[in-house]
Amino acid sequence: MTDINWDQLYDDALRWTREAGEYIKEKMKESYSIDTKANQNDLVTDVDKSVEQFFQQKIGEGYPEHRLMGEEGSHESIHDLTGVVWILDPIDGTINFVHQESFFAISLGIFHEGVGMIGIVYDVMNGELFTAQVGKGAYLNEKKLNKLSEVSFEESILSFNPRWILKNRGFEKLITESRAVRCYGSAAIEIAYVAAGKLDGYICNNLAPWDIAGGSVILAEVGGVSSNYDGGEQTYLKKDTFIAANPSIHRDVLKRVQNN
Ligand code: IPD
Ligand code: CA
Ligand code: CA
Repeated sequence: MTDINWDQLYDDALRWTREAGEYIKEKMKESYSIDTKANQNDLVTDVDKSVEQFFQQKIGEGYPEHRLMGEEGSHESIHDLTGVVWILDPIDGTINFVHQESFFAISLGIFHEGVGMIGIVYDVMNGELFTAQVGKGAYLNEKKLNKLSEVSFEESILSFNPRWILKNRGFEKLITESRAVRCYGSAAIEIAYVAAGKLDGYICNNLAPWDIAGGSVILAEVGGVSSNYDGGEQTYLKKDTFIAANPSIHRDVLKRVQNN
């Protein structure tokens, strides 16, 4: 593989993400078809698919050696993370997109030999663009995000889907022993919120690489921690349990989800 100009790659990825955001906003003024996938609550629209095709075309033209692992089909040919892999969720929070027309994001992580190099989470309707390049800090729009400061578990604000309470009794302790719990319905936005200090922890029983790739790169840049429920690293090749947290409460969250 030829030398990689990471700044150029970052600029291109950002430009294409913004363009895709504009495309989504335009499509929202028209009608689009909605289908279900694994179950009746797993939605996909024409818009999800065309955003993935848009990135596929741009990457193919600009970076033909790179590979795309996108939720809407392109992931099927990706079984390892050698070289450069763009890990894309064209719309994270499709239920919000369809029902609420807000709180959904384009989520993109660009990995090199398995290492997250670039992270982008674009909350399209709120105009919040969370970005990071490894070693260069994380940003919300033009503003650099601070390193996460210490918080106690008792004062922490957590986020998770209430449905997980039915599957893991440890979630009851997360509710009763933290300050408050929220749920936004987009994993990518919720991980970015942990990076921005709006949340202190986000927890999910089952996430795919494209849900977490962009957010995890951003989170790492502010000293945040991500892991599965065993405390191990993500492989970005399969679905897994997931915790994104301020480092001062990561162990507190882990202890509770393990003790269910
Ligand atoms: C979903 C959202 C949701 C999370 C689900 C994801 P999608 O992604 O991130 O918040 O709870 O597990 O699958 O299907 O909207 O891309
Ligand atoms: Ca998703
Ligand atoms: Ca999606």
